[in-house]
Amino acid sequence: MENPYKFIEAEIIDVKDETPTIKTFVLKPKERISFKTGEFMEVAIPGFGEGPFTPSSNPKDDTKLEFTIMDVGRVTGALHRMKTGGVVGLRGPYGKGYPLGEFKGKEILIVGGGVGLAPIRSLIYALFNQLDNYKKIYLKYGAKTPPDIMYKDEVDRWSKDGRSDVKLTVDAGDAKWKGNVGLVTTILEDLKIDLNKSVSVVCGPPIMMKFVTFKLLEIGYKPEDIYLSMEKNMSCGIGKCGHCRIGNSYACKDGPVFSYKTIKDYPNIWD
Ligand SMILES: Cc1cc2nc3c(=O)[nH]c(=O)nc-3n(C[C@H](O)[C@H](O)[C@H](O)COP(=O)(O)OP(=O)(O)OC[C@H]3O[C@@H](n4cnc5c(N)ncnc54)[C@H](O)[C@@H]3O)c2cc1C
Ligand code: FES
Repeated sequence: MENPYKFIEAEIIDVKDETPTIKTFVLKPKERISFKTGEFMEVAIPGFGEGPFTPSSNPKDDTKLEFTIMDVGRVTGALHRMKTGGVVGLRGPYGKGYPLGEFKGKEILIVGGGVGLAPIRSLIYALFNQLDNYKKIYLKYGAKTPPDIMYKDEVDRWSKDGRSDVKLTVDAGDAKWKGNVGLVTTILEDLKIDLNKSVSVVCGPPIMMKFVTFKLLEIGYKPEDIYLSMEKNMSCGIGKCGHCRIGNSYACKDGPVFSYKTIKDYPNIWD
């Protein structure tokens, strides 16, 4: 039987600074790797360990993968110190991503916070790849300050593309910022969406996901139409260690994308 923990080597072919704490790593794996948007992979840094990360790139391109990663500790810090030409290990993809089949014919409201825009970028690529299938894409994104806004050029492009409607907010503005100031829930107030033909996708820090979910329920979204990307602590990534349990499910195997309906009655889902 093939070793489920076997890594594929991947060379870092580019590193882009997104914000003071977030970088995008463009990786060229030794073997082609295909993934579906929302699935995750384990990325290993030799000598430091591994961690789960969701590719932020276009799922249509299986020759390279991009990961957008915030420096929060041991593994992410070691990766942030690596340069072009460095080699990391990849295993996966794992889990269940966004159920694009369920999104067909609908308006898609995407709500992101902080580094949560990473999986959303890949989702937006996937939606744009087959845009005739969807009615409209709305993106509401919140960052702490203007320099913390990720993918500035792409967000600008999406804003100018008539097929998507983009609105940004920051918790605290600066002298140049002309946009909204306030938590991401403040830009969910004036939605002109037919809720019966819409799904929402939420990705960001747990506290943000909690308040956005409650806001979406208040607006009238049904629990089955709210999709959450759950970043539970993970170890094995393949349903063996039990670290990522949510009720009777494992976030690594049954998620990381869950509809709110399937997990809402379990305790501590926002921890
Ligand atoms: C399915 C899945 C997909 C993910 N995708 C991404 C992604 O695309 N990009 C990305 O940057 N991260 C992503 N993460 C989070 C990422 O896995 C962790 O940030 C990473 O494993 C931390 O490893 P570390 O060794 O650097 O930090 P550690 O040394 O283990 O942790 C250092 C400290 O940071 C805290 N910490 C851990 N994670 C976070 C976090 N996300 N935000 C703030 N503080 C944190 C810990 O609680 C601890 O206090 C994802 C997580 C999951 C489960
Ligand atoms: S990470 Fe081991 S069971 Fe999910």
